[in-house]
Amino acid sequence: MIISARRSLRHLLLPLLCMGVATLGLASTVQAASTPLPRVVTADGRHQLQVDGKPYLILGAQVNNSSGWPQMLPAVWPAIEALHANTVQVPIGWGQVEPTRGQFDFSFLDTLVTQAREHDVRLVLLWFATWKNNGPNYAPSWVKLDNKRYPRVVKKDGSTLGSLSPLGTATLEADRNAFVALMKHLRQIDGDRHTVIMVQVENESGTYGSDRDYSAAGDKLLQSPVPAAVLKKTGKSAGSWSQVFGKDAAEYSYAWAIAHYIEQVAAAGKAVYNLPMYANAALRDPFNPGPPGGYSSGGPTDNVIDIWRAAAPSLAFVSPDIYMREYKKYTAVLDRYSRPDNALFVAETGNDTAYARYVFATLGHQGIGFSPFGMDYTRYSNWPLGAKAITPETIQPFAANYELLAPLAGLIAKQSFEGKVWGASEPDDTHEETLDLGDWRVQVSYGRPQFGMDPPKGNEQKLGGVVIVQLATNEYLVAGYHARVNFMPPKGHDGQHFLLEKVQEGRYDENGQWHFIREWNGDQTDYGLNLTSQPQVLRVKLATY
Ligand code: DGJ
Repeated sequence: MIISARRSLRHLLLPLLCMGVATLGLASTVQAASTPLPRVVTADGRHQLQVDGKPYLILGAQVNNSSGWPQMLPAVWPAIEALHANTVQVPIGWGQVEPTRGQFDFSFLDTLVTQAREHDVRLVLLWFATWKNNGPNYAPSWVKLDNKRYPRVVKKDGSTLGSLSPLGTATLEADRNAFVALMKHLRQIDGDRHTVIMVQVENESGTYGSDRDYSAAGDKLLQSPVPAAVLKKTGKSAGSWSQVFGKDAAEYSYAWAIAHYIEQVAAAGKAVYNLPMYANAALRDPFNPGPPGGYSSGGPTDNVIDIWRAAAPSLAFVSPDIYMREYKKYTAVLDRYSRPDNALFVAETGNDTAYARYVFATLGHQGIGFSPFGMDYTRYSNWPLGAKAITPETIQPFAANYELLAPLAGLIAKQSFEGKVWGASEPDDTHEETLDLGDWRVQVSYGRPQFGMDPPKGNEQKLGGVVIVQLATNEYLVAGYHARVNFMPPKGHDGQHFLLEKVQEGRYDENGQWHFIREWNGDQTDYGLNLTSQPQVLRVKLATY
């Protein structure tokens, strides 16, 4: 509610502000000088995305694959508004912008940026080019129909696949050239505003059906020396890919080839307009992956993150696209992509209710953002990966989370970088877990009555989730849904007398100002802090006695 009101106010003010800017004339120059580029910063193994020089948490949404067209945008914005998203990921297809070699048409990008500003959201562009889920369907016809100039991956038996080879030098040159043209245009139209905050380079790169490219170039690569950056990252001694990596050499050398290709595209784009860039992964099963080629071989899957980080230093991070509803699998993926050398951004996730709660676990893994896929009203559903239909009802559980988190987003991004954010999502089969905050522990349980100590049974729909943010010594912000939160003394201090000195319910406004509503006490605190279906935000002060 609060957010919608704020947004409508901005809608009213925006045209007036723009008129003011036009009258002053100088304003955009002033802004260009004063607003730093979006960037990802890393310190002490933690990461922060900064937009306009301030910590930024992506409460994102990705549109469907064929929604990146002017006439589809009216079906996009109502869903984004209902969701309370602050950032929208939209594809820009290579074939769409360069249908004829050397002739560019960025009119959709112009429309998109203008409308995103009108709707008060930021954008992440998705460069669908050499790879869109393994194949080149978004490449122009002059690329995808010219096998000689733009070679495809060769299988062990000599047949070819749909996937383009990362060893095709003309392919790299053509893709890089188009990407540079895109980034140049983007800098021209948005270099002073940064409506676009980040760019994904390619989409779910890799190849299904083969572990590597068995062309002569692929064979040669396998016998060539492993680059120094990969040796350093993996702690291996010098040798060829086959010598150093043995049975994994085919996949690892192929991962290096794709990452190196994408590195060259990203680096050239950053040279003209230095926005943060990343690559996303079609995941393998975290516990039973099967052989490469059964999953998208060479893409940034969890087993080759080291190779990707070494081969593609221009990428700020590699991201998981998580379409696994199971708690164990989902959180295993979060564990694997949240690393001191890799910021966690859930670049895509499913859009039905089961996935909504995972925004909290993502925050608990120091995530810089979360983005359900297919969030528009173009009447497409990618069920069984996601919801059967995208309606206001489908969007609701995600919207509730974003409505709760939006006013806290800057604070969460700031404190997360300091290691002061914890998060939990409701598991599938167990109903409680303990978070270690260092100074305190917190037991989070799901599916309990508000009164009394009955054991947790789990919620009927797995919607429970909690985020905890440390504000000061012994002071925490607690927010979430469908969960009970019980603070406890830290490890090794069981039995220590303590109490909830004060529990305030309130809300943050858009300037980060706290507005007190009431104190919780008595039944509201005796058995723990019971978060319900309401978007409640609590400030909790603890004390010992
Ligand atoms: C993952 C891809 O990255 C998306 O573009 C989309 O194809 C989804 N899979 C499936 O809907």
